[in-house]
Amino acid sequence: MNHFTSVKDVKDLNAAVEQALTFKKDPSQPHRHAGKRVGLIFFNPSLRTRLSSIVAAQNLGAEAIVLDVNKDGWALEYGQGAKMDGDKAEHIKEAAAVMGAYFDLLAIRTFPSLVSREEDYSEVVLNSFIEFAGVPIVSLESATGHPLQAFADLITIKEQWLHQRKPKVVLSWAPHVKALPQAVPNSFAQWMNAAELDLTITHPRGYELSPEFAGKAQVTYDQKEAFQSADFVYVKNWSSFQDYGQVLSKDENWRITLDHLKNTNQAKVMHCLPVRRGLVIDDEVLDSPNAIHIQQAENRVYAAQTVINTLL
Ligand code: CP
Repeated sequence: MNHFTSVKDVKDLNAAVEQALTFKKDPSQPHRHAGKRVGLIFFNPSLRTRLSSIVAAQNLGAEAIVLDVNKDGWALEYGQGAKMDGDKAEHIKEAAAVMGAYFDLLAIRTFPSLVSREEDYSEVVLNSFIEFAGVPIVSLESATGHPLQAFADLITIKEQWLHQRKPKVVLSWAPHVKALPQAVPNSFAQWMNAAELDLTITHPRGYELSPEFAGKAQVTYDQKEAFQSADFVYVKNWSSFQDYGQVLSKDENWRITLDHLKNTNQAKVMHCLPVRRGLVIDDEVLDSPNAIHIQQAENRVYAAQTVINTLL
């Protein structure tokens, strides 16, 4: 593994999950990477990703330093050959190279604009760090993917599912007041497909994910049909990929209530967080024993620890 930006960077998915679960049993291994420095570079807000990455690095004996670029750094220019006579004070060529000189590994959070699909899906920020930093790069959620979240989700499902048959996993769209990125559902679908689980994606018409990520998953516009016999229901809002960045529906019938789960196989309910209670998922569901969102968030530490350990 040279970088970690998608499931394609993981050579052996089962071995990666096993490593994460081994770290979970015995997290603190401070001699592994003592003296190494990890730079956590945030262009956007975060609670879980920031804290779990710090804890993961510290568990390995590495020092984690956080930079909130928009608050504490210079405005960055990405254009090749740009004459920098506007408000951008520093070019990514220098900024990434300098950060690469300070750190053994850089991890980047950069959300999409949701204005230009072409621009967002070209991953300019992440790819510029890969090109110019000279050290391994980890995605802490980029314009199109959130691989550390999906890795933690897979760890959580593997921990929970102790049967021989493959679990039926359903990714369900749910309503939201804002236009949200496709990064989490993209990565979740990609990782579930790579792990060869039985994946169904359900959403209103117009919310189809990019085929690159949806892959071989079953897609249905009938949420009730999708939930039939489901073992895991992963809830997430996303904006349209086709009608890029648009909110096409706020249909409250898609909000997850206890009634929605009646025909499932006592499905475990997952969400990457943060979740808006009462809008996306009802309190009764989130406060029920079937909700495993806190376990997912806890497993973010061991996903990050596995990736940082491998790259260092
Ligand atoms: N799930 C997740 O990435 O949470 P944060 O945005 O708080 O990091």
